[in-house]
Amino acid sequence: MLQLSLFVTLCCLFRSVTPQLFGNSSSNSNSSSPGTATVHWIGDKPAYQSGTTFGLPWPRGKHHSENTKFTISGDSSEQIELQSWVTGYWPDGSVKWSGHAIPESENIYNKYTVTAQNGTTSGLYTNPTGSLVVTNASDKLTIHTGKLQVSFPKAGSVLVSEIKTKSGKIIGNDGKLVLQSQSGVANDPSNRGNSSIQHFNFESSIEAVTVSEESSVRALVTIRGKHQVTRGGDHDNWLPFVVRFYLYANSDAIKLVHSIVFDAAANENFITGLGLRFAVPLAGEKQYNRHVRIAGVDGGVLNEAVQGITGLRRDPGAAVRTAQYDGAALAAESTWDPRVSSRLRWIPTFSDYILSQLSPDGFTLKKRTKAGQSWINIPGGTRAGGFAYLGGATQGGLAVGLRDFWKRYPSALEISSAATDVGEITLWLYSPEAQPLDLRPFHDGLGQKNYTDELDALDITYEDWEEGFDTPYGIARTSEITIFGFENTPSRDKLASLTEHINNPPVLVADSEYLKETEAIGTYWALPDTTSTASATIESHLEFLFEFYQEQIEQRRWYGFLDFGDFMHTYDPDRHTWRYDVGGYAWDNSELSPDLFFWLFFLRTGRADVYRFAEALTRHTGEVDVYHIGQWKGLGTRHGVQHFSDSAKQARISQPQYRKYFYYISGGDERVGELMEELLDTDKTYGVLDPNRKVRTDGWTPSPGSTVAIGLGTDWSSLAGGWLIEWERRGSRWEEAKSKLTSTITGIASLKNGFVTGSGLYSLENSTLGPPPTDPQNNGIVAVSHLSAVFGLPEVVSEAIEYFGADLPTGFKDAWLDYCYYFQATAAEQAARYGVSFGSLNLYQGHSRLTAYVANQRGNSSLGARAWREFYTTDGFQATSPWNTTRVEGSDVLAAVDEASWVSTNDVAQYGLAAIQNLALVRESLDDSVS
Ligand SMILES: *[C@@H]1O[C@H](CO)[C@@H](O)[C@H](O)[C@H]1NC(C)=O
Ligand SMILES: *[C@@H]1O[C@H](CO)[C@@H](O)[C@H](O)[C@H]1NC(C)=O
Ligand SMILES: *[C@@H]1O[C@H](CO)[C@@H](O)[C@H](O)[C@H]1NC(C)=O
Ligand SMILES: *[C@@H]1O[C@H](CO)[C@@H](O)[C@H](O)[C@H]1NC(C)=O
Ligand SMILES: *[C@@H]1O[C@H](CO)[C@@H](O)[C@H](O)[C@H]1NC(C)=O
Ligand SMILES: *[C@@H]1O[C@H](CO)[C@@H](O)[C@H](O)[C@H]1NC(C)=O
Repeated sequence: MLQLSLFVTLCCLFRSVTPQLFGNSSSNSNSSSPGTATVHWIGDKPAYQSGTTFGLPWPRGKHHSENTKFTISGDSSEQIELQSWVTGYWPDGSVKWSGHAIPESENIYNKYTVTAQNGTTSGLYTNPTGSLVVTNASDKLTIHTGKLQVSFPKAGSVLVSEIKTKSGKIIGNDGKLVLQSQSGVANDPSNRGNSSIQHFNFESSIEAVTVSEESSVRALVTIRGKHQVTRGGDHDNWLPFVVRFYLYANSDAIKLVHSIVFDAAANENFITGLGLRFAVPLAGEKQYNRHVRIAGVDGGVLNEAVQGITGLRRDPGAAVRTAQYDGAALAAESTWDPRVSSRLRWIPTFSDYILSQLSPDGFTLKKRTKAGQSWINIPGGTRAGGFAYLGGATQGGLAVGLRDFWKRYPSALEISSAATDVGEITLWLYSPEAQPLDLRPFHDGLGQKNYTDELDALDITYEDWEEGFDTPYGIARTSEITIFGFENTPSRDKLASLTEHINNPPVLVADSEYLKETEAIGTYWALPDTTSTASATIESHLEFLFEFYQEQIEQRRWYGFLDFGDFMHTYDPDRHTWRYDVGGYAWDNSELSPDLFFWLFFLRTGRADVYRFAEALTRHTGEVDVYHIGQWKGLGTRHGVQHFSDSAKQARISQPQYRKYFYYISGGDERVGELMEELLDTDKTYGVLDPNRKVRTDGWTPSPGSTVAIGLGTDWSSLAGGWLIEWERRGSRWEEAKSKLTSTITGIASLKNGFVTGSGLYSLENSTLGPPPTDPQNNGIVAVSHLSAVFGLPEVVSEAIEYFGADLPTGFKDAWLDYCYYFQATAAEQAARYGVSFGSLNLYQGHSRLTAYVANQRGNSSLGARAWREFYTTDGFQATSPWNTTRVEGSDVLAAVDEASWVSTNDVAQYGLAAIQNLALVRESLDDSVS
């Protein structure tokens, strides 16, 4: 057996090896490869971490979960508690990706080293101190973190019945979800006399509560249910939710991932408030010892007491004033100036506060003594931190915060009844002070009657509209919330640092070099390379593109409850604005895989800002742009003015490959894992919805269980991506997924013209894939589309080929290499191989990475040079493109902006992917090819 020290030495030797130019994936296999891996914090080392989960890849064939034990140490060799699990497997059953959780600790190290020991005794999990205790009773779950004890009832409306501190103080009760909605909206805001609008209030109604099997360092409590009406009349239970509570050993924080699915008619159900509310017991706490803290701008905090004793006509004494401002308990009233203590009853108490962030540029903040009295304005500000505390100096209290609070406007934080025995704190994911969430279509159809009209309209606004398809029914949204419990009112600085923590939760990740070496997340990317002028120029262009989008999000205010995370598709140079209102442009909805570009850009750079950007994108595209229930479950919506408005509902938009990078790096984020599982039935949608219905001439109509024509690019790549991930994860349906993947791969290999055939007949009954209806005898037809390979196909196929290894069905790799080679081969070569040429296509720059793939696989450097020629001299961005922005200001625009009218998101995504993959696959041919 290898010793630890040997692991370390080999690890470092191994990493210094320069990647081989035409190296192949098996050449890195080495039976004595490292058993250790290090992770570091993205960005600066955090000042605080409340328990952290992360993911790590391992080389093929090295560690088997039955006899591997993971341990972790910090900068010193001191061992830290660790909970470990497997999120992905290599085909031989060895660990491909592991997930790990470490507890809250005051010792925060720069780096952590995880060791995979080949021990046979104690198995995968370690629980040396057992500070986290889970008690699973018939009516409730109780989790003890060592700092907090949290109870979760198994039925009813209350998700969290009690939060108790270590010393036994109960600081929170009755934690439940709250929702309000109305049945209509006044069409004319200046004339609201419409009394027929009904208003409803709802609370969570629990359907299922589960707790993770392993809970040594991290316990995960998952609660599912719907919102049940409590006031306003009859209404079905609706807006299904799943809330995941993560509790870590030794932690006083509870992290929540809160997800809802919209499941109602948009013209009759307008959300007017959506939140999470806790009761905070305050009985016995003097009014002047009750504290309200609300995060403001850039680390600012509003520091107030329910009954203020500062600023009065008479002075209680400096020590008393200072203590109140600092949140400490005041000395006995007998020690104060009696002119104050005798008149306390005349000082009003303020029970209610509300901060509302109704725009990304400003929030309002006000308070009142109680319901029925007027509100008093407190100066508001620009962008609130999204964090509030209610509690007492002696009894402690509760703080809640929403990540990206102002970016997800309209949001709010509310404190109420703080002067009574039971105060309340409500985090509003959707502010009740905002206009209702209006998910109706943005136009009425404009009189389009049939497919002829719709195709004609597509020709002008580029919107692919169809009646009934512009529906939000089935879209979702996920939010990240943190709750903290305190024994006493915390200091201002502590609250400011927690505000930073909730907005930038610490993330541990392995070095880019290690991620690459393991080959567990694609072999189509490499580290940044500035060793030549040509490669340095490409690197600077990639940086330019990322930073431009980062800046555009801010300048164009691409924020909002549903919108945050996405960006737009195409620019309108005349108005100096993105085409936010033009039918088929506007929101990008993952068109041409920008998700892949930004994740690969993170993998190779390790930049913290890129991670946050890509994470927000993944949280948006996987939720809002995809249907999670209903007949189109598993399909996404094409780019458009609303995330759900276009009638092209397609698998290419929900491509699971887009979520894979975040899933594994995050240690298997359970919400994203669930989204990937949902996508396993996407193939069934072809039995109810024909993606080609508007242009079909053969009269075919879909029916469930039938045989359906699917595209070998945009359709199959998404189905295959999902099957491959399920197989890797060894999910509950992995054998079915593997079998469908194998069967369709075999089918493609059997087509005379392979991928060039364009489509095939897929049986919903037995998952076989045969020739398309136009070529039942498989004589070979040619149908090549520029779109086939721009929604994840190259990335999925590359990973699948490596995953199958020697078991890859015969002929499949050649079919793919042929597609890669011939897409941009000369017309004469195409004709010689297939009988006809492919004609005029599109997106050649992006497709240069297909040429690079063949060049790499065949070790053919003249093909490598061809790839670079295609990259530089076809379409897309040119070396002579401006690669800069221009300031537009004054009366030309609403507000000054930096524009790059030569940029479109399609080009960004495909340029970015081609640049990164060509550098990884045919780097050696680059410099000669640039004059
Ligand atoms: C990869 O390298 C190994 C040995 O280094 C060799 O056996 C194998 O044939 C190579 N595979 C390809 C596809 O070139
Ligand atoms: C693995 O690496 C070690 C050290 O670099 C080397 O001595 C050994 O030959 C390699 N084994 C294989 C199978 O490549
Ligand atoms: C790990 O142990 C197993 C037996 O339990 C052995 O077959 C395997 O070769 C060992 N692996 C390494 C890398 O030492
Ligand atoms: C489609 O509807 C338009 C009216 O909007 C009509 O003029 C046209 O004939 C219809 N086309 C077909 C194919 O039915
Ligand atoms: C799969 O089903 C199709 C019809 O849906 C049928 O034509 C084909 O023979 C079946 N193949 C197998 C292997 O069962
Ligand atoms: C941007 O680039 C173009 C083309 O290279 C150049 O003409 C222009 O002056 C540049 N503008 C700025 C503001 O740098």
